[in-house]
Amino acid sequence: MSILRGKHILLGITAGIAAYKTTFLVRLLVKAGANVRVIMTPASKAFVTPLTLSTLSNNPVLSDFTDDEDDNAVWNNHVELGLWADLFIIAPATANTLSKMATGNSDNFLTATYLSAKCPVYFAPAMDLDMYKHPTTQNTIETLQSYGNILIPSAFGELASGLVGMGRMAEPESIVKLVEAHILKALPLHGKKILITAGPTYEAIDPVRFIGNHSSGRMGFELAHSAAQQGAEVLLITGPSHYKAEQSAISTLAVTSAQEMYDAVHKHFNSVDVAILSAAVADYKPKHPSLSKIKKTEETLTLDLIKTKDILASLGEKKTDQFLMGFALETDNEITNAIKKLKSKNLDAIVLNSLSDSGAGFGGTTNKITIIDKDLNQTDYPLKSKSEVADDIIQKLITYTHA
Ligand code: CTP
Repeated sequence: MSILRGKHILLGITAGIAAYKTTFLVRLLVKAGANVRVIMTPASKAFVTPLTLSTLSNNPVLSDFTDDEDDNAVWNNHVELGLWADLFIIAPATANTLSKMATGNSDNFLTATYLSAKCPVYFAPAMDLDMYKHPTTQNTIETLQSYGNILIPSAFGELASGLVGMGRMAEPESIVKLVEAHILKALPLHGKKILITAGPTYEAIDPVRFIGNHSSGRMGFELAHSAAQQGAEVLLITGPSHYKAEQSAISTLAVTSAQEMYDAVHKHFNSVDVAILSAAVADYKPKHPSLSKIKKTEETLTLDLIKTKDILASLGEKKTDQFLMGFALETDNEITNAIKKLKSKNLDAIVLNSLSDSGAGFGGTTNKITIIDKDLNQTDYPLKSKSEVADDIIQKLITYTHA
């Protein structure tokens, strides 16, 4: 899943031959999950049709302050549109439009919307090489960058005039990649590697039976999603779960037993910055799992169980610079028990999952948590959906890792 998913993107198209490539650009943005609205300058309609772009973007294409010239004219509100956008891409951006943007000339709907937009603005110059090289154009590009606009550099190659040189609009794929990389770079967890454990573990009794628990894995998957949304590279080590991680920033490693989870976590722990252990790991496993299916010959069956390794505690012993966060599921003396776990497992913070409030805890869709850090600062949160709880935990993590 792209970081552009759910983003509101305005695409401004001006009158250059590269306008025909915006059909591909719109496709890529829509495929990435963005909500795209297109603004065209009147002259750009000679290069690509509004019908094509409205069909591809699933939205009407805007090009003027009003939709009609008769008495029923509908006012297209450039201020609202500018505020709607999470980002504005102007591609292709002709020398004419760039110079209007640099000087505040708002004589068309596109440049008026540009002046109203508060979001990041990306511009992809496209023109013939001598126009591109001209000091006026170069000054304009510098001026626009000094205002905080982001340049999508032109490429070298054959131009519509037949000349070869700088001035080609960047290819749609490069535009999308540049925008994605730019957004990711600005996110607070960019450059951080986070290991997250999720789900239950299954401990074999024999080849067909196991001891497990009702954990769905949802909390861990929501945490992975939320961390990836904030720019982290996530390694999700999960016990059996029907959830799937869709973001490209999340790599999933499926395990079954506590021992497999232990081995996978230890293999990767040294290369991460943060570990959040939210898995409901089995505390005990059969001492002698049977290699063949156990027959029901006896009236009673007794299984000898032995403790599994405590993965979280083992990381607490091993950790160097990593930020280590664990979970505690408690029913009695919640805070006291959570603090005990925080200290005995050498954690940087612990998320206390209260079971005393209805709607909180295992299996369900909501949760109520308290986060306690190693200085014993305590933050209580109200009952929320698990995805909101994950966002709260990741926001807290950001404050810790940026402190
Ligand atoms: N945990 C772990 N490995 C285990 C058991 C638990 O890594 N073998 C981790 C869980 O992922 C969680 C934390 O330890 O982050 C606390 O789990 P919890 O079951 O609440 O506590 P326990 O330490 O197992 O103690 P108890 O069940 O006695 O409360």
